[in-house]
Amino acid sequence: MDKLTIGAQPLMFPMPAVLVGSNVNGKANYMAVAWAGVANMAPPMLCVAINHVRHTYKGIEENGTFSVNIPSSSQVVETDHCGMVSGAREDKSAVFETFYGKLKTAPLARECPVNVECKVFQKVDCGSHVLVIGQIEEVHVSQDCMTDGHPDISKVDPIIYSFGDSGYWKVGEKIGKGFSVGRSYKKE
Ligand SMILES: Cc1cc2nc3c(=O)[nH]c(=O)nc-3n(C[C@H](O)[C@H](O)[C@H](O)COP(=O)(O)O)c2cc1C
Repeated sequence: MDKLTIGAQPLMFPMPAVLVGSNVNGKANYMAVAWAGVANMAPPMLCVAINHVRHTYKGIEENGTFSVNIPSSSQVVETDHCGMVSGAREDKSAVFETFYGKLKTAPLARECPVNVECKVFQKVDCGSHVLVIGQIEEVHVSQDCMTDGHPDISKVDPIIYSFGDSGYWKVGEKIGKGFSVGRSYKKE
């Protein structure tokens, strides 16, 4: 298949749209983040790429804690708002109802079906953004989003963010089971 080169860009498909929360001067602040992923299994860690200038980053520096909140597709407006407006200019503390878990300085957005509490493990300054690696201290999931003891992606209904068109998407259909469908692979 013919290919086009499109230049070095921070491209990844799919990207999530999550809300990173921190307390800045004691007030909860949430920002939209698409550059987020899993960093480690044992101990469990997440990582998020945060621009130095973000108000949320001030709170991460201040407390050494933050949260990653996974919104549902029904919260796309609130999520985008938190990605367009800085807490440095406008108070975003009332966009979500905040609660606290184990970490008393990592604000958790109650309306989001999944909330992950993180303690900063390490920060890697990559240039424009700091890759903040957080050790997960606790995970909260809305009861109605669980199936057989696990968070259920179809119930959580997370938002997918797409590179290029800056679109918000919903999760599509299940196409197979991991560590399983590969068994039917046949070498040509
Ligand atoms: C969908 C979306 C994804 C974003 N992803 C990131 C990201 O991964 N890292 C980042 O530093 N900023 C990202 N932003 C920009 C911040 O969310 C935005 O600058 C926000 O206003 C920062 O808020 P704060 O200054 O209150 O922290 C994203 C914005 C949107 C709309």
